[in-house]
Amino acid sequence: MGLLKPKNLVGLDIGSHSIKVVDLRHHKGGFELRNFGRAQLPPEAIVDGVIMDSAVVVESIRNLIAHLRIKNRSVATSVSGHSLIIKKIQLPLMTEAELEEQIQWEAEQYIPFEIDEVNVDFEILGPLADEDGQMEVLLVAVKKDIINDYTAVIAEAGLTPLVVDVDGFAIENIFEVAYPEHLDKTVVLMDVGAGIMNINVLKAGQSTFTRDITLGGSNFTEEIQKELGVGYEEAEILKLGGQSEQATPDEVLEVLRLTTENLVLEVQRSLDFFSATSAEEEIHGIFLSGGACRVPGMAAAIEERVGVPVEILNPFRGIQYSEKQFDPDYLEAIGPTAAVAVGLALRRVDER
Ligand SMILES: Nc1ncnc2c1ncn2[C@@H]1O[C@H](COP(=O)(O)OP(=O)(O)OP(=O)(O)O)[C@@H](O)[C@H]1O
Ligand SMILES: [Mg+2]
Repeated sequence: MGLLKPKNLVGLDIGSHSIKVVDLRHHKGGFELRNFGRAQLPPEAIVDGVIMDSAVVVESIRNLIAHLRIKNRSVATSVSGHSLIIKKIQLPLMTEAELEEQIQWEAEQYIPFEIDEVNVDFEILGPLADEDGQMEVLLVAVKKDIINDYTAVIAEAGLTPLVVDVDGFAIENIFEVAYPEHLDKTVVLMDVGAGIMNINVLKAGQSTFTRDITLGGSNFTEEIQKELGVGYEEAEILKLGGQSEQATPDEVLEVLRLTTENLVLEVQRSLDFFSATSAEEEIHGIFLSGGACRVPGMAAAIEERVGVPVEILNPFRGIQYSEKQFDPDYLEAIGPTAAVAVGLALRRVDER
């Protein structure tokens, strides 16, 4: 018959600190959480977005999927970091099909890598109001060897990667589902992971400014190690509010506060740059995701410095789930870390 029917995908976020898996049921009028799980990786497995120890990553994915008893082998995954280029460019008005033909050629001048080393994708944002015959296009380029590395570990774990998305876009997708009332405003989505912080300014639901900053949860751990003279494991425990004989809670909080201050300065710098380069854009709110946004005082520090309300993004807000199967408090606590994976699980592909 040749009819296409949508195929569900399992969301698989291979982060440098942990792997997250989300399985959603899609039904008329919404989504239901079927499964969620997470597996921590050793700090040297993925460094700066590059898989250093693929055997460890493969094992973790395989065990997590088996443990959760997920049967669907088809996954959507994502990449982030320095092998990824996102740029807004101007081009003469043309159709999607026309741009499809030309994009390789157009992209060449905007990308600091050889064009045959990257996969190029785009989204037409719309015609420019102040320039006749021109339109704005969001250009996305990812290094092929990074995509290959990520899809190879997924395949080796026995899964089929059908979609490779970008962390920031996955968060955008879940934000649309979880916070539809904010879609007509200018908001900032900020993901503070272990190694990298991604800032994405959305204007009326479209990405208008993005920036990656190499700061994240690992910096907090490293500072605790350095300032308080403890090892990695102990520093992680202290960071999460745990006890140790080597340091008092106040000493830990002081290190966290100073590191947060650093991070908040970078956030302010980026948002100042955004404001200076875009016309009268009032930011209505900042939504934080990523595990490290849970550092005590981070949301308040950003709110105070930037002067805009800050909220922790709850990706499960727009998603139904059984309270027998999932504890609402747990989901809320884990929410920021799960945001990318939940966004990925929204993706579907057509299947014959
Ligand atoms: N409650 C918490 N308080 C402080 N830090 C936390 C908390 N929970 C998690 N983190 C930190 O958040 C980081 C992990 O966040 P996340 O899972 O978003 O990262 P990731 O996706 O694995 O990494 P990346 O996106 O950078 O590759 C770690 O540094 C972890 O220690
Ligand atoms: Mg992440």
